[in-house]
Amino acid sequence: MTQEWWRDAVVYQVYVRSFADSDGDGIGDLPGVRSRLPYLADLGVDAIWLNPFYASPMADGGYDVADYRAVDPMFGSLEDAAGLIHDAHANGLRVIVDIVPNHSSDQHAWFRKGLRDRYIFRPGRGADGELPPNDWESVFGGPAWTRTPDGDWYLHLFAPEQPDLNWENPDVHAEFLDILRFWLDLGADGFRIDVAHGMVKAPGLPDVGHPNQNELLGEEPLPYFDQDGVHEIYRTWRMVLDEYPGDRMAVAEAWAPNAERTALYVRPDELHQAFNFHFLKAKWSASSFRTAIEEMLATKAPATWVLSNHDVHRHVTRYGDGEVGTRRARAAALLLLALPGSAYVYQGEELGLPEVLDLPDELLQDPVWERSGHTDRGRDGCRVPLPWASAGPSLGFSSGAGWLPQPEDWAKLSVAEQQTEPESMFSLYRAVLRLRRMLSFGEFEWLDLPEDVLGFRRGTFHCVVNLGTEPVRLTDAGRVLVASADHGVDDGVVTLPPDTAIWWS
Ligand code: GLC
Ligand code: MG
Repeated sequence: MTQEWWRDAVVYQVYVRSFADSDGDGIGDLPGVRSRLPYLADLGVDAIWLNPFYASPMADGGYDVADYRAVDPMFGSLEDAAGLIHDAHANGLRVIVDIVPNHSSDQHAWFRKGLRDRYIFRPGRGADGELPPNDWESVFGGPAWTRTPDGDWYLHLFAPEQPDLNWENPDVHAEFLDILRFWLDLGADGFRIDVAHGMVKAPGLPDVGHPNQNELLGEEPLPYFDQDGVHEIYRTWRMVLDEYPGDRMAVAEAWAPNAERTALYVRPDELHQAFNFHFLKAKWSASSFRTAIEEMLATKAPATWVLSNHDVHRHVTRYGDGEVGTRRARAAALLLLALPGSAYVYQGEELGLPEVLDLPDELLQDPVWERSGHTDRGRDGCRVPLPWASAGPSLGFSSGAGWLPQPEDWAKLSVAEQQTEPESMFSLYRAVLRLRRMLSFGEFEWLDLPEDVLGFRRGTFHCVVNLGTEPVRLTDAGRVLVASADHGVDDGVVTLPPDTAIWWS
């Protein structure tokens, strides 16, 4: 039997709103994605994950779903979704859709009809119920409860427009099984499960006991995240996925406190993948990456590596200013794509896009900006539309302006500019993705190297990243396959400069 496709797949995350706009309204859409499938196939990824494109008032970029079986008109139609899936398959690409089971939109029919037993309503505390039922905080800032005109409160771990669903209600279970089937029937190859660690809350909804709880990757167990009960849900979901042919899969967005807790989501009768956010959060240091990698591999569970997504600052910017950040991001790409398991690439990462830090206040759309009382600028800076061309009103993203403006100097980062430039980030990703497909990998084993150099082998394949400040001499480097920057080769000895990675075999 050949191994399941997802085990070592490279999945490209498409933030639909910012990928490609087909109709000139400045908002990326499904026909836009469809028209760019040849680009993705040429880049050499195996699958795409589409951020939510469902009917939504867009209080949180579409993570507030009003109808789980409808495409929002701004993104296209259900026919467009089916056409996109069909064409993706014809281009050799699988399609993963986002599913948002922790909460719906407050415009969802259930909430509008006042079906309170499907959400989490509680009376308030205090003499007149004027205080929230407990001390939980919204991940976006402020209390996690909002009071309704009749005096009761409802829970929303995110924005007030995103009421949490009540997973103690069997109707909620049944509805989501049906939604899974709906998209599987349409041809989806899998699901990315939003807030996969959130659906089950500790019995009695106990207080946390202190403020500033919403550190997503904190070590502290929280009564609203990573409760053991969620795993029962996934065992049922797995049965549905297994009813379908073709290795349908699911990947969990589960911010668990450590690798062991993360691994629980990918037990053989549960989900297939869970993002390794400890790897994403690693600092630019060998020890930081080594710990994240080691802890994950020690669990023996399938590993899923990721450096950027639509919720965090782009890693070019996280790793350093200007040139330094880009240089490190090139090295990080070689690391990401050399590790055993699957890797996720966020759109624009292959272009080396930086975080846009200076969007005008009045254009910011992420609810984090308002809810943090204008102290946190939120996540719009990694959601700026892609530059496809070196000229035009939105650099080829749309025929008009895009929903967020691109920095002026993005013309030189455009797909058009980079495709013909052998030294570009795009060319590096493309070359490395091709190599990855051709190589065969053996057992993972760390190499014995200086402290700030990270290196491992997988059979005859080797990957070394110099995260230190001094060049490192590699005396036994064999045939160099690819390097992220210039390096010296003399008589079989490779000199690897700082912030550089190399593959050899
Ligand atoms: C996940 C999504 C994020 C969204 C949140 C609430 O973390 O990735 O974009 O805001 O869930 O749905
Ligand atoms: Mg559009």
